[in-house]
Amino acid sequence: MRITMIGTGYVGLVTGACLAELGHTVACLDIDESKISELDESRVPIFEPGLDGMIRRNVERGKLRFSTKYRSTIPESDAVFIAVGTPSSDTGEADLTHVEASVRMMAPYLTEATTVVMKSTVPVGTNGDVARQLARLRPDIPITIGSNPEFLRQGNAVDDFMHPDRIVIGADDERSRRTIHQIYNPLIQMGVPVVSTNLETAELIKYSSNAFLATKLSFINEMADLCEQTGASIADVALGMGLDSRISSRFLAAGPGFGGSCFPKDTQALLHTTQVHGAPSRLLAAAVDVNRNRVRWMADKITNAIGGTVVGKRIAVLGLTFKANTDDLRESPALHIIRDLVGRGASVVAYDPRGMERARSLLPSIDYAKNASSAIDGAAALVIATEWPEFSTFDLNEVRERLAAPVVIDLRNLYEPADAAAAGLRYHSIGRPPA
Ligand SMILES: NC(=O)c1ccc[n+]([C@@H]2O[C@H](COP(=O)([O-])OP(=O)(O)OC[C@H]3O[C@@H](n4cnc5c(N)ncnc54)[C@H](O)[C@@H]3O)[C@@H](O)[C@H]2O)c1
Repeated sequence: MRITMIGTGYVGLVTGACLAELGHTVACLDIDESKISELDESRVPIFEPGLDGMIRRNVERGKLRFSTKYRSTIPESDAVFIAVGTPSSDTGEADLTHVEASVRMMAPYLTEATTVVMKSTVPVGTNGDVARQLARLRPDIPITIGSNPEFLRQGNAVDDFMHPDRIVIGADDERSRRTIHQIYNPLIQMGVPVVSTNLETAELIKYSSNAFLATKLSFINEMADLCEQTGASIADVALGMGLDSRISSRFLAAGPGFGGSCFPKDTQALLHTTQVHGAPSRLLAAAVDVNRNRVRWMADKITNAIGGTVVGKRIAVLGLTFKANTDDLRESPALHIIRDLVGRGASVVAYDPRGMERARSLLPSIDYAKNASSAIDGAAALVIATEWPEFSTFDLNEVRERLAAPVVIDLRNLYEPADAAAAGLRYHSIGRPPA
């Protein structure tokens, strides 16, 4: 099939490359000319393991190309995916400006044969609105639209796309449903389950999934706080809970709170939707609230570990991205915590394997180290904020020697408290008793 992917970001670029890998002919379209120029020069603007090679391979075999032009891509397409951003607005509602703009821009070039597929995460009812918008703009052709929400995780996106737990297809007409089914046929043939449903249900499956996972994280983070007050260990609590197949061990890692480009905005957007429809979710409101308070809580924890004040103290923070294996800083807990510490008078030196370039413009007032060791050198404390694998292999004796004071606050539980204590560190982690 010939596919145009509108929006060449974390989702659009991965989805476009993977669909090309599955054998389709894909044009990735973006209004960001610099992004498309980079891709045309074989430079991949985001970091995602395995993506560079897949893009190169499919460009070389003529299956993948990049464009800024609606007029030369849309008319040739059997399917047009919308994968533009849907950020939070001031009220928490999903901001659909980019979706609406992409619909306006594609409309003149749609043909009768094209199916529009919504990949962006959009509130329940949006696909119906888009169908009506398109019908107004193009009364001359029948509009077919399907919803195909994406569940990939940044840092593992290529593998997640190629081996999804499920494919959700929402459609109110058979042609859209068949088209999307055909696009995913190589995965469906491998046994990936399909949830075939109506537009509204598909939209809500996406938000409910993210909201549920976010709630799971807020829950385990609250349990970690309780562990700290009682001498229980959150690691064992999570292990014991996770072995129950009704619960599962995933998303039970206590930490500094959820961040990233999806959970914060999607929980806010779903909360807004529940309120608008007169079915407010108290549970979700609490999960969001717990997460919001977590930044200050983490900053308090760091402050207390340092001796009650961070004023004038140099604190090394390792990890800026919202999770490991991505360069994405959107809503990263690390950034929020750093801002809080700086607000309290700390001087921060940070290091991240992938996130520093973008961080410099977001946090211009802090120092950036060229590697983890030089960040730690002479610092009054080390904070581990992101679970990059390289932060879990330190020689703890060397860490103690490099630090001005032997204080480590590990917000990702990368070390055993007993090992840290044996190295002479005053080690604070999340929800685990000290050694
Ligand atoms: N990032 C994730 O892990 C993830 C996972 C699942 C779903 N989603 C959803 O996928 C959607 C995209 O997310 P993302 O993280 O890829 O966003 P992103 O910000 O990385 O990329 C969006 C891209 O769309 C482009 N764009 C904006 N308006 C455009 C237009 N009119 N025409 C063409 N291009 C346009 C932007 O230039 C940008 O390159 C969102 O709705 C998000 O909620 C994201």
